[in-house]
Amino acid sequence: MNKPVMKVIIVGSYLEMGERAAKLVQQLLHDKPNAVLGLATGSTPESTYAELVRMSQEKQIDFSHTVTFNLDEYYPIARSNSQSYWDFMHDKLFRHINVNPQHIHVLHGEAQDPVAECASYEEAIGKAGGIDLQILGIGNNGHIAFNEPGSPLTSRTRVVQLDESTIQANSRYFSSAEDVPKQALSMGMGTIMEARHVILLASGAKKADAIRQSLEGPVTEAIPASILQQHPNCTFILDREAASLLKNTYEQV
Ligand code: F6R
Repeated sequence: MNKPVMKVIIVGSYLEMGERAAKLVQQLLHDKPNAVLGLATGSTPESTYAELVRMSQEKQIDFSHTVTFNLDEYYPIARSNSQSYWDFMHDKLFRHINVNPQHIHVLHGEAQDPVAECASYEEAIGKAGGIDLQILGIGNNGHIAFNEPGSPLTSRTRVVQLDESTIQANSRYFSSAEDVPKQALSMGMGTIMEARHVILLASGAKKADAIRQSLEGPVTEAIPASILQQHPNCTFILDREAASLLKNTYEQV
């Protein structure tokens, strides 16, 4: 089997990264209005969501038949908590576009039985026909969703422990690191690899080392995003800072 070729696009700014990603979503929904989108939270996709909101307000995109599945959610956390990913997604995207609320899926951060919650999430993704386009960010340690280094490459949606470095990185949104939940519910590596197209976004120098290792290092559980080298249809959209440690030549726009 030939090694899949990853597409790498290097853009001039964080805003351009968002525009490029939003265009790929727009094209997909144009071709397949009932497409299933996999969505990420965090600061990275915010410019993508802002561009999708603009397109939606200008009637350049229609989400009315679109189905969404978010990658992850803290555990435990109430949906009413302003740091929940449920709240983030409504604040940045869902409240501003014409997505049907019944088509939105976010893992329940307060599920009584988190194991059953993860199993039924996997089932719901399957029933929806699988994810057409998965948007990912990347942690400074190479994590994707909350699959921290060491996550099995075949893992499915499950309860995970957050790395100390992730707790520290995400504490910027909370009053202190102690307030960051120590666990999360997260799609697995295997779940992500089944998406038909994966777009990984990264911006800023803090991500440069993780990007270098993901694209140009070996495929290893130590750098979860490196598994994307084996995905048949994966696009990295990077700003110059995130791409600054790459040795190979890639498309620059
Ligand atoms: C969020 C997620 C995480 C983030 C990553 C980067 O749903 O899955 O993997 O993508 O932690 O976070 P930011 O974008 O805040 O740097």
